[in-house]
Amino acid sequence: MTAPVSILHEDNTGTHARIRNDFPALHQRVNGKRLVYLDSAATAFKPRCVIEAVRDVWERDCANIHRGVHTLSQRATQRYEDARVKIGRFIGTDDRRELVFVRGATEAINLVAHSYALPRLGLGDEIVITGLEHHANIVPWQVVRDRTGATLKVVPVSISGEVALSAVEQQLSSKTKIVALAHVSNALGTILRVKEIVNRAHALGAVVLVDGAQAVPHLPVNVMDLGCDFYVFSGHKLYGPDGTGVLFARRELLESMVPYQTGGDMILSVTFEKTLYNELPARFEAGTPNISGAVGLAAAIDFISDVGLEWIFRHEQLLLKFAQEKLSKIEGLRFIGTASDKVGVISFVLEGVHAHDIGTILDAEGIAIRTGHHCAQPVVERMGVAATARASLGMYNDESDIVALAEGIQRVKQMLG
Ligand code: ALA
Repeated sequence: MTAPVSILHEDNTGTHARIRNDFPALHQRVNGKRLVYLDSAATAFKPRCVIEAVRDVWERDCANIHRGVHTLSQRATQRYEDARVKIGRFIGTDDRRELVFVRGATEAINLVAHSYALPRLGLGDEIVITGLEHHANIVPWQVVRDRTGATLKVVPVSISGEVALSAVEQQLSSKTKIVALAHVSNALGTILRVKEIVNRAHALGAVVLVDGAQAVPHLPVNVMDLGCDFYVFSGHKLYGPDGTGVLFARRELLESMVPYQTGGDMILSVTFEKTLYNELPARFEAGTPNISGAVGLAAAIDFISDVGLEWIFRHEQLLLKFAQEKLSKIEGLRFIGTASDKVGVISFVLEGVHAHDIGTILDAEGIAIRTGHHCAQPVVERMGVAATARASLGMYNDESDIVALAEGIQRVKQMLG
């Protein structure tokens, strides 16, 4: 189906149709219907160039890195390190030492919790998170709390799904050592005022970790501009390979942190008596990493840069407005998370229908959404519901997807409402 891009963009340049063509997984039928993929917050489809980059590593440069004198190893090392530089620049750092490859945002947060927080925090110290965090940005801090005796404080979220600066200020004090917050909520789509929060936390001497997993696919991010100390994201939501991700950490902090995992590549020398750890960032990359994944993630960033994050942001915002208008006409549908500043995440409930039933019936129509608590149980409960249906947008979605979703929901109502 051709995307009716003219409604969204006055300059109907065909950009959107070209984008859709680049994602092979979009062009399939599911349960006999055209696939409508509205689950990019869970994972995004991969453009052809990412698939080809991964394959090319395995076909031509399949070798371990940092270890071999042979040509293939040299080439693989070069591609891996080039990927690091590219990904670093994408989020605003030119210092390759500040960019650690990890399995995903979850591992990056665990790394900071274990290597930065555990050795430093103690009784009387405070960790501040917000009420809309994903489990990955809650549980590691509970572990730190339980092992160190520090206190975990939670900034309340409004019923619209927003985190007010005044509410953050109320939780911050000179006892605050770490503030950990999402840049964008995965369950609701809220964009948080990270820069202002960083300023307030820094004024009190706290460091700030930002979980950018749901932000980097949708808006330009510059860690220098945000001023944060740690920024983490996953590759698979950024149109890249799964099992990839990044920890950005300010170099002085990373220099002072103990290794998270130990083994090969993170050492300079080992005897049975003593081990000398490697320089940054290798010190935090024990074992053979996801080499093809890093190269694939760099290819995803090339793709995104070609399209332009400004274009992507604008496209998704227009589509979000279109979806909000369209779905608000459905009787019995209630949006969950109505922040004025949000990305294309549309969480909703339907009167008298369980979210899982919505998901199952939509799937029969070829429409993929996520249902449940979205690994963010506390905020879904805060919204007064046990589960929501969540449609989430990527750069490849268009109005026809939203129209299909609205029709699908009407079908759910006919069957169960
Ligand atoms: N964190 C991912 C989501 O929001 C898996 O669906």
